Amino acid sequence: MRIFSGIQPTGRKHLGNYIGAIRQYVEGQDRGDPAIYSIVDLHATSVDYDPGALPSYVYDTTAMLLAAGLEPDRCILFRQSDVQEHTELCWLLCSVTAHGDLNRMHQFKDKSTQQRELISAGLFLYPVLMAADVLAYRAHEVPVGDDQRQHVELMRDIAERFNAAYGEVLVVPEHRIPAVGARIMDLQDPTRKMSTTASEERGLIFVDDDEEAIVKKLRSAVTDSGSEVRRGEDKPGITNMIDILAAVRAVGADEIEREFCDLRYGDFKVAVAEAVAGYLAPVRERYGQLRPDEAALEATLREGAERARAIASDTMVDVRVAMGIGAPRPT
Ligand code: TYM
Repeated sequence: MRIFSGIQPTGRKHLGNYIGAIRQYVEGQDRGDPAIYSIVDLHATSVDYDPGALPSYVYDTTAMLLAAGLEPDRCILFRQSDVQEHTELCWLLCSVTAHGDLNRMHQFKDKSTQQRELISAGLFLYPVLMAADVLAYRAHEVPVGDDQRQHVELMRDIAERFNAAYGEVLVVPEHRIPAVGARIMDLQDPTRKMSTTASEERGLIFVDDDEEAIVKKLRSAVTDSGSEVRRGEDKPGITNMIDILAAVRAVGADEIEREFCDLRYGDFKVAVAEAVAGYLAPVRERYGQLRPDEAALEATLREGAERARAIASDTMVDVRVAMGIGAPRPT
């Protein structure tokens, strides 16, 4: 089982990233043959960004993933732009990608309205580069949060269309979306997903927040006017906190409802805050130890890129032959 996933370097990593994706990456190391994880700096250029700061954001994310439990000898961890096969394959996949499908992508619609100056063609092609990331490794499984579901559906279509047009070269991947915590919501506006671009800081719990900050944010989290700790469409705030606690404890949401049914909101919030703080504390501590050593982080990424390139370049040989790109192969 080959596993691939990617994460953007920009933006501090938050509880949604951690529960929806990062902890699945860690668990994937045991099943992946191999498990491959990429810090997707090329994707970061599709919206306004600061070129001077991007390299250090890549280190932030690398240190965070290692702090969460990725081990370079049990997985491949690399920076996307170090493996040029991604960009080549992105272009080639454009030949089997429908313009209309790209137009329908929720993320494109959301992000293009947030851009003040330029809606770049890169933002439009973003899902094709994402498809190239996965298909270059012929990965079977893609661990992601719920917000990436549509992108994974599209990469499946792209792979199928490629295979139908040029022969069976690519693997059609499947998403792996966690049963609990696939969509962690903003604490201040629980009808929106937690996100560094869409939310104000008070609505987000960062993985490197200390206990005080976590308690403060959860205490002031928006709830509804009721008083029962149970899930419901009319109770998005409490539902979100139940989901968070269930994910942190790795139990079902009904178990949390049973345990806390007699508690008031205020006491429940304190229980959630304590659990989240205890859960993230070791990651924050390790992050603090790993982040300063940029030479070590760089060495990890380089070594990862070499191993990634070996796999991606194999795929590209087959893709080029299938598509008739480059000099004909000697027979
Ligand atoms: P990114 O960097 O926005 O997010 C990284 C991962 O975190 C998940 N996530 C969430 N999960 C639950 N609740 C939330 N509120 C929440 N917010 C984010 C995302 O689903 C994601 O899994 N396009 C991707 C990066 C990418 C990629 C790929 C992923 C590039 N190439 C190939 C998979 C395969 C993105 O922007 O993720």
